[in-house]
Amino acid sequence: MALIPPPATRVGDTLGTIATPSLLIDLDAFDANLAAMAAFAARHGVALRPHAKAHKSSAIARRQIDAGAVGVCCQKLSEAYPFAAAGIESIHISNEFVGADKLAMAVELAAHVRLSVCVDALPQVTALGEAAARAGVTIDVLPEVDAGQRRCGVTSEDALFALVDAIAAQSALRFAGIQAYHGGAQHIADWHARRAEAHRAAERAGNFVCKLEARGIQSAIVTGGGTGTVEFDATSGVYTELQAGSYLFMDGDYGHIAWDGALRWRHSLFVLSTIMSATRPGLAVCDVGLKGLAVDSGLPRRVHRPDLSIEPTLTYVAANDEHGMLEVQGSLHDETNALLGERILLPPGHCDPTVNLYDQYVCFRGERVVDVWPIDARGLSR
Ligand SMILES: Cc1ncc(COP(=O)(O)O)c(C=O)c1O
Repeated sequence: MALIPPPATRVGDTLGTIATPSLLIDLDAFDANLAAMAAFAARHGVALRPHAKAHKSSAIARRQIDAGAVGVCCQKLSEAYPFAAAGIESIHISNEFVGADKLAMAVELAAHVRLSVCVDALPQVTALGEAAARAGVTIDVLPEVDAGQRRCGVTSEDALFALVDAIAAQSALRFAGIQAYHGGAQHIADWHARRAEAHRAAERAGNFVCKLEARGIQSAIVTGGGTGTVEFDATSGVYTELQAGSYLFMDGDYGHIAWDGALRWRHSLFVLSTIMSATRPGLAVCDVGLKGLAVDSGLPRRVHRPDLSIEPTLTYVAANDEHGMLEVQGSLHDETNALLGERILLPPGHCDPTVNLYDQYVCFRGERVVDVWPIDARGLSR
């Protein structure tokens, strides 16, 4: 007999009965973000290829495609499988990879979807070209250029030319353009400083595009951009495709930066938790810690009540493996024990790694659970 825990919730339940911790989506906010980014990209005539590493869910990718996205980005090859299996037709691996296990996944995926990948070194091109030819598939290749992040990507035009020539020499590969993503620009808190850094990234990318053009090579796609810089990337005249991911959810990381421009996003992702111990005045303990909340970008900055209003007397101050410490101030301080059993909503500091800790999204509107979506690419990081 299979002995498995009961489901956390069912459609129609109220927030008060969902098992905790659970990962929740406020669908009103989510829908608003989904529609706003789709409309923004359409208005500026740029393609939207949202980053699926933010949500890891084919149910969400389907909604993004239905709203006009041209496909999705994945950061890892194994991550792409659930999206390919769910019928997402165009997948860009916005990352470099090396090794026989990765090549095997690349050619398998390319047999099912229009696959594009990034490279920044000649051995990657040769290995991919030979594997694709052996498998009888064609793969679009976008060399990555360093747009300022100092992570992956070539730093010189000569290195880029060498890659483009190597791609041309492989009959199973097609040069499709370049990737120029600058992660370091995304969370710059000051809006003007962020805009300036995004402009520098676009300028670097634009220089590479011009140098290729001078050799008679057109970059059909220039892909990059994240939630923090899309408003600048879309109007740069350089980027043809936006890769934003976090915009659907937002998180503490994005919540504290300035949004002085036209775009505004709503927080739609929350971890629902229960206060399960409160033995001393001033300290309440809830049932979500490090195993249910990524804290690499800080602890949850606010505590919400189930009606989404902010509870100012509670502050999440520390995370143990399975415990969250809440400082209790003000009127509730002397009645901390009365908090036992209370439910709270915590906006994660960083959405991507938090999502990777859960099997499903519990989607709600108002007080009611209206849907449950599997996080089918959870843990797929090969
Ligand atoms: C290559 C690439 N593109 C796009 C994104 C999406 O960025 P965001 O989730 O900040 O919108 C990321 C995030 O790290 C990324 O690494």
